[in-house]
Amino acid sequence: MCGIVGYIGTKNSLPILIEGLKRLEYRGYDSAGVAIINSKECKVIKTKGKVSELEKLVSAHPVESHLGIGHTRWATHGEPNTINAHPHFNKEKTLFLIHNGIIENYLSLKKGLLKEGYEFISETDTEVLTHLIDHYLKLKNSLFQAVRYALNEVEGTYGIAVIYKNEPDKIVVAKKGSPLVIGLGENENFVASDVNALITHTKQVIYLEDGEIAEIHKDSYTTKTISDETIIKEIFHVDVGIDDITKGGYPHFMLKEIMDQPESIYNSMRGRLVYDEGISKLGGLQGFEDRIINSKRIIISACGTSWHAALVGEYMIEQYAGIPVEVEYASEMRYRNPIISKEDTVIFISQSGETADTLAAMKEAKKKGALCLGICNVVGSSIARESDAGVYIHAGPEIGVASTKAFTSQIVVLVLITLMLARKRNLSLPDGQDIIKHMQKLNEKVAEILKQNEYIKDIAEKYADSKNFLYLGRGYHFPVALEGALKLKEISYIHAEGYPAAEMKHGPIALIDNNMPVVFIATKDSVYEKVVSNIQEVRARKGRILAIVNEGDTQIESMVDHVIKIPKSHNILNPILSVIPLQLIAYHIAVKKGLNVDQPRNLAKSVTVE
Ligand code: M6R
Repeated sequence: MCGIVGYIGTKNSLPILIEGLKRLEYRGYDSAGVAIINSKECKVIKTKGKVSELEKLVSAHPVESHLGIGHTRWATHGEPNTINAHPHFNKEKTLFLIHNGIIENYLSLKKGLLKEGYEFISETDTEVLTHLIDHYLKLKNSLFQAVRYALNEVEGTYGIAVIYKNEPDKIVVAKKGSPLVIGLGENENFVASDVNALITHTKQVIYLEDGEIAEIHKDSYTTKTISDETIIKEIFHVDVGIDDITKGGYPHFMLKEIMDQPESIYNSMRGRLVYDEGISKLGGLQGFEDRIINSKRIIISACGTSWHAALVGEYMIEQYAGIPVEVEYASEMRYRNPIISKEDTVIFISQSGETADTLAAMKEAKKKGALCLGICNVVGSSIARESDAGVYIHAGPEIGVASTKAFTSQIVVLVLITLMLARKRNLSLPDGQDIIKHMQKLNEKVAEILKQNEYIKDIAEKYADSKNFLYLGRGYHFPVALEGALKLKEISYIHAEGYPAAEMKHGPIALIDNNMPVVFIATKDSVYEKVVSNIQEVRARKGRILAIVNEGDTQIESMVDHVIKIPKSHNILNPILSVIPLQLIAYHIAVKKGLNVDQPRNLAKSVTVE
């Protein structure tokens, strides 16, 4: 969470910082600020609210400077207000710091600093770090060394950028647990918490790793470890274009990303299917196939939407590859000392590749000797870099806080992994080819569902005033029910719960009356008749029913209030199709309620704090 951007070069920094912050706003958007230094002055401008508010203030006080840092915040310590907004600064307003992460021992550090006479004006952990650096600046007389010494005292996570009036030729940055990337330009360099902020300026980047610190000048940089050893970093070329990170004519990123799915789904499987052999080829897992296939157990760990994709993965890997699978919330796995052995493979799924809990769970699994694989969207992200091997989903940048196209692409990649494992175990060639044939038609089927957008909007609007929703599905559609409920609650603030349809009678059925909309995912699969019975149970209690059914299904149509029809497919691909109407329902309800779809309250796109 929190967006960080910094500039040093020959251009005016403020427009670059504001543009960068707008691209990073999806990471956090409760307050924002910039600090600049020029030969005459140091200036810090901060405000509660969005980057657009900051932009107004900045335009009212234009100032030329070639060195600056900017921040958009997702509050952890202290409410979202102007004082708690970053950058934080020392008493003399000569040292400025922006920070993403949490300084866990900030209270004990603060105690020491208070004794030395430091005063604090904010409630943040970041201000403590600023004063700690100030303390070392007075002792070491070097910004780089002051930052290094201060960080050696810090427990917790950080991605930071620091500037100092007396050393106006540099930005010092450091990383532990929160992403930090350096962008290399001609006579100018950049820093950011993710590459989206940089790609209009440069495609050449360096990813800092945990425990690394860098001093960046306009035409050079040095990278070291926190214990002061020089390191040489690899320079990467990022392949993200401006079209990938703009709305492309849609009113919201979320809608654009839903509509992107025929292409993103295709991109996730492109070049990875070998029809003649009925298999998938995943370059990122090359050399690891046998170890995965011979695993005693596969654990899939993730958070949020990615965790729902993991559940779909469990069903398919167990059904087709016959390997026991467990799915675990990363936030639970990291602290509960799970039994993981060298014979296990642990797959970590993360769109951003930066989710703090998932990253920490991966480190834990690595310590226990398991093979750790990453399924990530963001190329070069921490989980992608730190896993033993992995597969990119290639869905393209996902900016809307509600994850949509990443979910469907994660499932595509899980199908590819299942195919690879199952064919080496007991899936026959014709069965493998059958899955591939269905995969090759997926993007057309997705496009067919998306054509019903206006029809789905009409239905969604009829339910927009509801206070609660139930989403029910069985088998592969149980995780889809969870995902549909999550989509609705996170962007429309309507309480929604996902349940396996058969569990309803063990409690939730008590909620059913004519005010309770129930969304059933009821495609023609092995549990179809059972779901029909569950629909009858809700109908008997006068619940309002919206059902996602297959084209040609007339049985359910006659029993429910509304239906949305989707094409038939292979059972392991059905979740990819059935989730799309649920994404659109959530989207249209949130729009109807006049809510900020792309930046729902209290949330951030990548959750880099625990
Ligand atoms: O980047 P990740 O996939 O690791 O993110 C995990 C969750 O934070 C994320 O899926 C979250 O639940 C989304 N807001 C759901 O739409």
